[in-house]
Amino acid sequence: MKSHSIFVCQNCGYSSPGFLGRCPECGAWNSMLEEKTNDQKSKTKVEVTNPAQSLHNISVEVKERFSTGIGEFDLVLGGGVVAGSVILIGGRPGIGKSTLLLQTAFNFSKNGNKVLYVSGEESLSQIKLRAQRLGIERSSELYLMSETDITKVIAEIENIKPSFLIIDSIQVMYHPQLSSSPGTISQVKECAQELTRVAKQNFVSTFLIGHVTKEGSLAGPMVLEHIVDAVLYFEGESFLAHRILRAIKNRFGSTNEIGLFEMTETGLKEVKNPSSIFLLEEQEPAPGNVIVPTLEGTRPILIQVQALVAKSYLGFPSRRAVGLDHNRVTLLTAVLERRAGLSLYNQDIYVNVVGGLKINEPAVDLGVIAALISSFYNTPLGTNMIVFGEVGLGGEVRKVSFADKRIKEAIKLGFKRCIIPKGNLLDRDKFDIKMMEISNIKQLIKMVQ
Ligand code: TYD
Ligand code: MG
Repeated sequence: MKSHSIFVCQNCGYSSPGFLGRCPECGAWNSMLEEKTNDQKSKTKVEVTNPAQSLHNISVEVKERFSTGIGEFDLVLGGGVVAGSVILIGGRPGIGKSTLLLQTAFNFSKNGNKVLYVSGEESLSQIKLRAQRLGIERSSELYLMSETDITKVIAEIENIKPSFLIIDSIQVMYHPQLSSSPGTISQVKECAQELTRVAKQNFVSTFLIGHVTKEGSLAGPMVLEHIVDAVLYFEGESFLAHRILRAIKNRFGSTNEIGLFEMTETGLKEVKNPSSIFLLEEQEPAPGNVIVPTLEGTRPILIQVQALVAKSYLGFPSRRAVGLDHNRVTLLTAVLERRAGLSLYNQDIYVNVVGGLKINEPAVDLGVIAALISSFYNTPLGTNMIVFGEVGLGGEVRKVSFADKRIKEAIKLGFKRCIIPKGNLLDRDKFDIKMMEISNIKQLIKMVQ
């Protein structure tokens, strides 16, 4: 049988008859690997070892889950770690990945589980220092190892037989049989695959820490995301104390939930009342400030939207948005100008979400509109007020999902009034809050003026 080889990009799957330094399809460097193909498929009879089964006859295996001892982390994972699953945690350097996982490792070990924490970036004494800072007491079940050779790590897994494994980080690990240097696509992929195989075989729940490139994606091949069971991102601004843990892939749970943490002197603490960190403490309501209840997964979070409308001295006035989609803000500005007659063509517009959260849902539209109107007329919207609703191109205010959940959260935090879409048809008697229902943004202008 004749066999010949082709070169396949390990990042996107592009194939070529010859080696290429750079994949013409996805632009990745050094991602082409030689693979053998057979021209003729062999005709021998193949035995089916895993015959197909009728859906009806398949019984559901209940996967065992372990709590990380951190409520917010469990929430993002979908109710704890599934035994034998592999979880990739990405984030910028210094965001707190090692801290989060050292705290988690200690929680696992406290419950009598063996944990192996492999650090390829820090020495054992550096980790010990961090552990002291985190107030981690002596723990006989928590094993630390400073190693970058994956074969040695795997040998140690077979010696210690841990229930939990943490690799800090996957990019510094290397396989001695591959000639490419650590951090390259083939090394990272090989190490992740080896570890996944060992994890599944020995039922070791594994956390891989991964670094994120400047563009915000995980350094290394995209295939890494396909190898693992869950991909979480740990995000935040370095100048702010709070951190957000978000799932972008989860084979064992939803990807809606976010976990909120605060970085303190003694490690990461869970944020019990998420709305509180995104609201500014203020005495007097200021023009341009509006509170919007948004939904993050199943949880309502109150955020503050700020707008600044100021006369422009440029031929081309600026439109800037932080924490919101820039195009959405431009669109809402146009709606406001055309449908409500505000002359914004010679105004610079800045819109900001306080606290570094990024909001994608349309329910924030009416909040942005309200903030712009309030800043334009230099009049505060009113005290103890929340606003939400989707705004259409005709200036109409559309209903949003889970209005009751949003209002309940606002009531819990002491808000007394709300401006909401008429279409939501809420039962006024059920909520202890004054409701102002509107169906068009023009009505909002009358309220502010
Ligand atoms: P680290 O977990 O090392 O981040 P990563 O592994 O993602 O690179 O955290 C680094 C930052 O966190 C560092 O700037 C110091 C700060 N930090 C605290 O503020 N409090 C603490 O208790 C710890 C351990 C770190
Ligand atoms: Mg680290």
